[in-house]
Amino acid sequence: MSMRRAVCPGSFDPIHKGHIEIIARATALFDEVIVAVSTNYAKKYRFDEDERIGIARQTLSSLAGITVQPMGDGLLAEYCREVGANAIVKGLRNATDYQYEAPMAAMNRHLTGVETVFLLADNQYTHVSSTLIKEVHSLGGDIADYVPRAVLSRLNSSR
Ligand code: PNS
Repeated sequence: MSMRRAVCPGSFDPIHKGHIEIIARATALFDEVIVAVSTNYAKKYRFDEDERIGIARQTLSSLAGITVQPMGDGLLAEYCREVGANAIVKGLRNATDYQYEAPMAAMNRHLTGVETVFLLADNQYTHVSSTLIKEVHSLGGDIADYVPRAVLSRLNSSR
């Protein structure tokens, strides 16, 4: 029987507990989950590609069935084909996420047949994003409830 392999894609700049909760739930549905860290080389990130991958690996090391890999700046659907994944897993926080994600899911299925599985974000994380975490932290707000310790210490040391 073939492995059920899924890709959880994102920028993960940085990874936060909302991401981790979705990734953990994906491991219950698939034999293997590849956390694919995307990099748009024209874009400025708070953490560079190696740091985003390193932090994600460190943070997810206690969960079985997960690998963290660079995805570069290519097409997600092609990446899924290359790694033999027939599903993409994404979290949905609200209707705005749905409106943004639905056309991409349809396009990705058109491109290679890859399906997108949406998991509804847990209530405690519906307001959490990497963007908001970086902004609140840079203005002195407490975001400790929403990030793993490795992220908090890196945010503090690069303030
Ligand atoms: O964490 P993000 O920034 O919301 O992740 C967005 C990501 C990487 C999942 C999205 O930008 C993406 O799929 N990029 C790959 C490029 C691609 O395939 N574009 C066409 C989508 S139909």
